[in-house]
Amino acid sequence: MRPDSTPPTIYRKDYTVPSYLVETVELGFDLDPDRTIVANRITMQHNPASPSRSIVLHGEELDLVELRLNGRALAPTEYKIEGSLLTIPRAPAQVVLEIETLCTPIQNTSLSGLYVSNGSFYTQCEAEGFRRITYFPDRPDVMAKYTVMLRADKARYPVLLSNGNLIESGELDDGRHYAKWEDPFKKPSYLFALVAARLVCQEEHYTLKSGREVLLQVWVEEGNLDKTDYAMQSLKNSIRWDEERFGLELDLDRFMIVAVGDFNMGAMENKGLNIFNTKFVLANPRVATDIDYAGIEAVVGHEYFHNWTGNRVTCRDWFQLSLKEGLTVFRDQEFSADMIGTDSGRAVTRIDQVRTLRQAQFPEDAGPMAHPVRPDSFVEINNFYTVTVYEKGAEVVRMYQTLLGRDGFRKGMDLYFARHDGQAVECDDFRAAMADANGRDLRQFERWYSQAGTPVVSARTRYDAVKRNFDIILSQRCPATAGQPDKLPFHIPVAVGLLDANGKDLPLLLEGGDHPKDATTVVLELKEQEQIFRFRNVDERPVPSILRDFSAPVVLEYDYTDDELLHLYRHDSDAVNRWEAGQRLAMERLLKLTAQVTAHGDAAVLKLDSTFIEAQRALLVDESLDPAFRELALILPSETIIAEQMEVVDPQAIHTARQFMRRTIGAALKTELLAQYRANQTPGAYSPDALSAGKRALKNLCLSYLLVAPEAAELKVAQQQFDNASNMTDRAAALVALIHSGGDAAPYLQAFYQDFENEALVVDKWFAMQAAAPATNVAAVRKLMQHPAFTLKNPNRARSLIFNFTNGNPAQFHAADGSAYAFWAELVIQLDGINPQVAARLARSMDRWRRYAPALQEKMKQALEQVAAQSKLSNDVQEVVSKALA
Ligand code: PHE
Ligand code: ZN
Repeated sequence: MRPDSTPPTIYRKDYTVPSYLVETVELGFDLDPDRTIVANRITMQHNPASPSRSIVLHGEELDLVELRLNGRALAPTEYKIEGSLLTIPRAPAQVVLEIETLCTPIQNTSLSGLYVSNGSFYTQCEAEGFRRITYFPDRPDVMAKYTVMLRADKARYPVLLSNGNLIESGELDDGRHYAKWEDPFKKPSYLFALVAARLVCQEEHYTLKSGREVLLQVWVEEGNLDKTDYAMQSLKNSIRWDEERFGLELDLDRFMIVAVGDFNMGAMENKGLNIFNTKFVLANPRVATDIDYAGIEAVVGHEYFHNWTGNRVTCRDWFQLSLKEGLTVFRDQEFSADMIGTDSGRAVTRIDQVRTLRQAQFPEDAGPMAHPVRPDSFVEINNFYTVTVYEKGAEVVRMYQTLLGRDGFRKGMDLYFARHDGQAVECDDFRAAMADANGRDLRQFERWYSQAGTPVVSARTRYDAVKRNFDIILSQRCPATAGQPDKLPFHIPVAVGLLDANGKDLPLLLEGGDHPKDATTVVLELKEQEQIFRFRNVDERPVPSILRDFSAPVVLEYDYTDDELLHLYRHDSDAVNRWEAGQRLAMERLLKLTAQVTAHGDAAVLKLDSTFIEAQRALLVDESLDPAFRELALILPSETIIAEQMEVVDPQAIHTARQFMRRTIGAALKTELLAQYRANQTPGAYSPDALSAGKRALKNLCLSYLLVAPEAAELKVAQQQFDNASNMTDRAAALVALIHSGGDAAPYLQAFYQDFENEALVVDKWFAMQAAAPATNVAAVRKLMQHPAFTLKNPNRARSLIFNFTNGNPAQFHAADGSAYAFWAELVIQLDGINPQVAARLARSMDRWRRYAPALQEKMKQALEQVAAQSKLSNDVQEVVSKALA
C-alpha cells in the first residue's frame, strides 16, 4: 500500500456554502479534436452567507491561457493553482471573470468532460466533468444561466447542439459555422452539454396537455434512423405520464435526445439535451430484444423525469445524489408499471425490481463498499453511482408511498416542488415535504438514509383458537457495516395478508389499526426492535403472507413449512409473494444440493423431490396466470443470489447444483415445456408490448429448460427458431440456448456474427453471450479479446465481454487455479489507463472475496494487492481496492 499517495476522503459534515454565486455563464467553443479553445465569461457575486472572500474554481486537464477579473488580466501571483483548485483570494463583491483555456478532446478516453466519439464531439459533465472543460465552481449548489456559442467545421460537424433554445446560427470563414444556444433555466454545471456531430434526427411536434407545442428530436448517426421510433414513442409517453401522474409539464420548447456509442453510463439528463448510450435509444425488431425495448422505455422516462426531479430541484452536494436518483428511479419504475397498465403486469415489474436488489444491491450492502443511501464520505464520487443510491434509494421513496398512500405521496411531491423549485436541496428536505404535507412524523424514517446494510425482519406467529387471535411478532436487526457497528431500528412498512385453508384472503381486523373494513392487506409499521401485531376474529390458523409487494428492502425471515410455501405458491393473491414462495422452495433445495455437491464432489448423489417438480408443473400450465409471471416463477434464483445465502461460497458446487436442478426440471416437465413452447408463439408483426414480450419470455425459458440436456428433437427446435426468428428476442434466445446446451454452437455464433457485424449493439450481445457461457474459461475470454471487433476503449464492448465474464460466469471466474483473478487484475490496471470509471466498476467484481473458501480467498487477495500496488492508480480504482482490502 502507498499511504503517501492516498487520495483524500471528502465528508458530508464538511459542507460549506459556496463563497461566490454565479449569475450568468457565457461559453464560447472553438471545437477542434486536438486543440479546443474554451472562452468562459462568468458574472458572479459574493455569497452573503459565506465568510470567505476567495473565489474557488475547479479545473482539471486544462491549459490556462488567460484569466481576467473585472477586465484586468491577473498575474500568476494573484491567484493560486493547487491540484484541481484555482483560488483567487480577496476578490471584490461583484466579479466578472474571463477565462480562456485549451483542452484536447481527442485524447480524452475517460469520457468525462469534452470528448470525441466516432469523430464527433460530446460532453459528459456529471458529476465533476465540467471542470475538465473550463475553470468553474463545479458544484451542484452553484446554479446559473448559460449562453453557449459553438464554432466548428461545418462539413465534419454539421449539427451543433447545446442546452435550451437555438437563438442564432450561421456561416463563418474557412468552412466553419456557428450556433448560439441559450438555456432559460438556471442550472448546475453538471447539467451542461454540447454536441457537435454528424447526425440526423427524427423529430416531431408534440402538444402538451396545456396546449403548448414542443419540438421533440432524437438524434442518431445516419445509418440508425430506422431505430429511433421506440425512443420517440417512449419520450411522448413519458411527457404525458408526468403530466397525468404528477402534474408536471415539460418546461422547454425543445427537448432533444442524442445517442452516442461511447458512454460510461446509461444516459444523462442534461437540461433539454439528454445524451444517451446508444444501447438505450436504438431499437428495431431485428436488432433489439424485448429487454432492450423495456430498457429504452425506462431510461428515456428516467432522463425525462429528471427534468423535474434533479434539474428543477437539484442536489445541494453529491452526498444527496439519491435525492434525485432514488426518486427518479422510483418514478421510472412507476411509469413502466403504468405503461403495462394491468395489476399482474405491475407485479411482474415489481418482481424484476426485487431480483435486481437481491442480485446487486444486497451484496453491495453486505460488502466492503457498503454505504448509506446518503453516504457520509467518499473518495471518488463516481464510485457512488451505485445500486444502493439508485435502487435502494428508489425503495426508500417507494416506502413513503406505501406509508402515505398514493394521494399522500402526491401531496408530498407537490409540497416539495412548491418549496424547492429552483433550489439545490438535501434528502432531508424531501422527507420534510412528505411529512409536512401529510401531518406525519417521519423522523425515524431518516435512518433509511443514514444507516447502511440490509435490515433483517424476523417474524414469528401464534394462534389462539379460543380467543380467535392471530399474532405476528416482528423483530428487526441490521448487520454491522464499515464504520457503523451498531444500528438503530428502522421505520419499516410490512404489508401483510392472511390466507385461509382454501387460499382465500381473510378480511383483516388489526387491533389498533385504522384500515378499511374490507381490507385484505394491511401495512404494519415496525418501528421498535420488536413489536406484536394482533389480528382479531381469526377463525382458523391462517398462512401469513408477509412483506407483500416487497413493501420494504429487507430480508424477511420466517420459518415457513414446505406446505405453507406450497399453499402461498398456489394461492397468494399478492403476485410478488406468490413468486417469492416459489423462490423460497427453490432456494431451500438449491442450498441443500450445493452442500451435497461440496461434500461429494459431484452431482451423482443428487435428487430433487417430486413435490417441488409438481408445484412447478402446476404453475407452468396454469393459463390463468400471465406468461410473464410464469416465466419469472420458473427461473431459479441466480448463482449470485444463491452465493449470498452461503457462509462459505463454493461457486462450482452452486453451478453444478443449479444445473442439476434445471436438468431435472427440464426432463420431468418435458411434455409441458414443449406444449407451452408451442402455445406461446407470437406470430405476426413484432410488438414489444408486455403481453407479447411475456409470451416470448415464457416460450424462451421453456426452450432453455429443454436445451439443458437436449436430444436431437429439442436441438432441432432451437435450430429452427434460430434460423426462422423474425426478431432479435427469439434469435438471441435460441442462440443462448444452443450455446448452453453444451453442443457445438460455433456455426451459429459465426452466422450470427456475420449477420450483425455492422450493428455494434448486437456485436456486444455476441460477446456477452459467450462470456457468460458455462464453457467459457479465462483462456477463451483472452482469445475473444483478440477478435478484431474487440476493444477496451468502448465501454459497452468492454463490459460485454469482460464484465459478463467476471460477474456473469461465477463458476469460471472462480476457477480453482486463480487464473481468472490474475486476468481481472491485469484488466483493471489496463482499463484504468483508459477509463478510470469503467475500471473501478470492474474492480468491484472482487467485493465479496472474503466469503470464498480460504484457497480462493488467498488468490483473490493477491490479485487485489497486485492492483493496489500499482504506482499510477486512479482515485476511482484506488478507493475500491483499498476498501476491499481494509
Ligand atoms: N445522472 C445519470 C442518470 O441517472 C447517470 C449518470 C451519472 C450519467 C454520471 C453519466 C455520468 O440518469
Ligand atoms: Zn438518474
